[in-house]
Amino acid sequence: MQVNIAKKVAADKAATFIQPGMTIGLGTGSTAYYVIMRIGEMVKDGLEIRAVATSVESEQLAKAQGIPIVPFSEISGIDIDIDGADETDEQLRLIKGGGGALLREKIVAAASGRMIVIADESKLVQQLGKFPLPVEIIPFAHELTMRKLEQLQAAPALRTRDGKLFVTDNGNYIADCHFGEIAAPEKLHAQLNDIPGVVENGLFIGLASTLIIGTDAGEVRMYGRQD
Ligand code: 5RP
Repeated sequence: MQVNIAKKVAADKAATFIQPGMTIGLGTGSTAYYVIMRIGEMVKDGLEIRAVATSVESEQLAKAQGIPIVPFSEISGIDIDIDGADETDEQLRLIKGGGGALLREKIVAAASGRMIVIADESKLVQQLGKFPLPVEIIPFAHELTMRKLEQLQAAPALRTRDGKLFVTDNGNYIADCHFGEIAAPEKLHAQLNDIPGVVENGLFIGLASTLIIGTDAGEVRMYGRQD
C-alpha cells in the first residue's frame, strides 16, 4: 500500500499525545488507520495503554496490531479519542460518517476527555457542506424518515455498497444528505436529531478540541488546544 504522507504525519503527531496508562478511543477510516498502526508500534515497544474502538473494522485492525481492546464495561472514561473527519472548519466543527461509523464515533468522542482530529489538507474547509452529510436512520419505516429529510431540503440518498443497501455496525441505514453549504450547523444538527427515526447525524460540534492537519510535504499544522 502506498503511504499517504499527509495522513501519516497527522496520525504520528496525534500519537505523541498518548501517555502510559491512558484509555484511547480509536477512530475509523483511512486516516485513523495510520494512528492505529502507530499505536500498535508503540505498544510493541512497551507502551501500556487500553483502547476502545469506534467500529468493528478498527477493532479488528487494532487487535491485529496487538493493541489491547477492552469492553466499555471495563472503562470509567476515555482519555483521548483520535479520529479522522470528512470535513472540518477552523472552529473544529466536523462532518463525519463517510465510513459509516458516525454513531459509535460520536458516542466515543462525547465520552472522551479530549478528541484529536487528524486529517489531510483537503478536509479543511471554509464552510461545511460540500461533503454530503451522513445521517444514520433506523430501517423501520425509513421511507417516512427519508420524507422528513426531504422536507428539510436534504436531497437524501440511501447509501449503497456493492449494489445493496449499506448497513452500519448498528444495523441501521445511512442517508447521505446534500444540503450544500451549511450556514448554521448547530441549528441543522438539532433539526435532524428531532426527526423520529434519525439515530444520529454526522455533524460533530463542540466535540473536537485539537485538529492536526498533515500536508503532502510532511508538515503538520495544529488548531485548537496545542499542549
Ligand atoms: C468514518 C469517518 C471517518 O473519520 C471519515 O470518513 C474520514 O475518513 P478518511 O480518514 O478515510 O478520509 O467519519 O465514519
